[in-house]
Amino acid sequence: MTTDTAAQAAYVVAALLFILSLAGLSQHKTSRSGVVWGIAGMVVALAATVGLASRSITTTGLVLIAAATALGAGIGLWRARVVEMTGMPELIAIMHSLVGLAAAFVGWNGYLDVDAELSGSLLAIHHAEVFIGVFIGAVTFTGSVVAYLKLSARINSRPLTLPGKHVLNIGALVAFVGLTAAFVARPGMGLLIAVTVIALALGAHLVASIGGGDMPVVVSMLNSYSGWAAAASGFLLANNLLIVTGALVGSSGAYLSYIMCKAMNRSFISVIAGGFGTPAAAAEEGEQGEHREINAEETAELLGNATSVIITPGYGMAVAQAQYPVAELARKLRERGVEVRFGIHPVAGRLPGHMNVLLAEANVPYDIVLEMDEINDDFAATSVVLVIGANDTVNPAATDNPSSPIAGMPVLHVWESAHVIVFKRSMAAGYAGVQNPLFFRENTQMLFGDAKQRVEDILRGLDALDAPVPEMAGTSR
Ligand code: TAP
Repeated sequence: MTTDTAAQAAYVVAALLFILSLAGLSQHKTSRSGVVWGIAGMVVALAATVGLASRSITTTGLVLIAAATALGAGIGLWRARVVEMTGMPELIAIMHSLVGLAAAFVGWNGYLDVDAELSGSLLAIHHAEVFIGVFIGAVTFTGSVVAYLKLSARINSRPLTLPGKHVLNIGALVAFVGLTAAFVARPGMGLLIAVTVIALALGAHLVASIGGGDMPVVVSMLNSYSGWAAAASGFLLANNLLIVTGALVGSSGAYLSYIMCKAMNRSFISVIAGGFGTPAAAAEEGEQGEHREINAEETAELLGNATSVIITPGYGMAVAQAQYPVAELARKLRERGVEVRFGIHPVAGRLPGHMNVLLAEANVPYDIVLEMDEINDDFAATSVVLVIGANDTVNPAATDNPSSPIAGMPVLHVWESAHVIVFKRSMAAGYAGVQNPLFFRENTQMLFGDAKQRVEDILRGLDALDAPVPEMAGTSR
């Protein structure tokens, strides 16, 4: 077998491993094996690619490949080890920016180093691939950098509303189509520089125009773009595995974006077009009345007397790492005969499935963890709802206030229950920067402080409820 045949066979194996990986990652129970399939696929792909390259490479070239692999693997391992779960979306965003940058470089290389054997329509196709690859790569690069800056709160997450922003986006797309036709007819460095600059500006503008609440869709959308950028590089490098892998990432990212848009009642086209047609964000409202406070002992007593409790966790539970005491609280209440369930919003936290992963880590039984649609009708018949570090996902303004930036986004109807206890550290707004009228409702009480500490206080409060009452203290309870 020649090296080339062996490499192509290895590519087929790697592609199958990537498909197995995606299938595994689609469910909690199989997600670990999904990661292992993915790692195995990447090892096979890298070995085959280096094997192919080694046929026509100098020793210096091999040393450079080894150094780049060691450096990349070292940085990847280090980042993956130190990243906090809450910092995962921004890490993913910055990784996507590297895929985009690599695709843009591959495109430029394809222009500077044209295969002398290409002519006629094959040469025209090559030039189109160069142009499209550079465009998608550059859009992905700056879009991902802006997403990283927004997700890591280095810049404001409010949508940028330049005058005529839709005209700018459409103008950039029209210019891209026109320049592609001109480049295929008469390739020139000036045209390639022009499309690179337009694509860099378009990527930054598209993501800057999207508001904080829609960022989950943006992250999965950039994931999709990075896949198409890799596929474009695959065509340029005549690498079948890169084409297949890019298409897998591109289509699964597009599908995830579609699911997220459905969950958030957003138009897919509107979000990918940079917030096209979404209402302009309302100005930040101040506090909307008086809020009431409750302490941990009073909460323990309320819970001790409840018949049904729903816990709706959010980003704050992840920040506080409160999942373990929360799981313990659920266990204790169930032992006392209280019906306890969890209500999970599809975009709670900062990652798809973020809350489910944390609760599974703390061994909360799967059967009491319900999706928003499964539990939303049950709040009205619930004694107490514990909102633990959630904010946007329980904001009634999404249903009541058509001018709210999160208007139309489905939310958990926690306010329909008899009592709502909100765990957070202050009256600050959530990720979307929108004030939450829930905090000022008659049946809502705020339990201020770090969510983990407050839940631990409640656990102690519950123990105190069960402790035998000293004789001298009377028998009134
Ligand atoms: P958020 O709206 O982000 O609010 C979280 C709340 O937790 C904050 O109001 C904060 O209030 C509180 N908090 C933070 N640290 C805390 C701690 N140690 N103890 C107690 N409370 C703490 O949460 P959410 O309801 O989960 O909504 C998620 C938001 O993120 C949505 O807007 C969504 O669109 C966006 N987003 C989601 C994703 C995905 S895929 N899930 C990705 C990107 C963005 P204090 O500061 O007052 O404590």
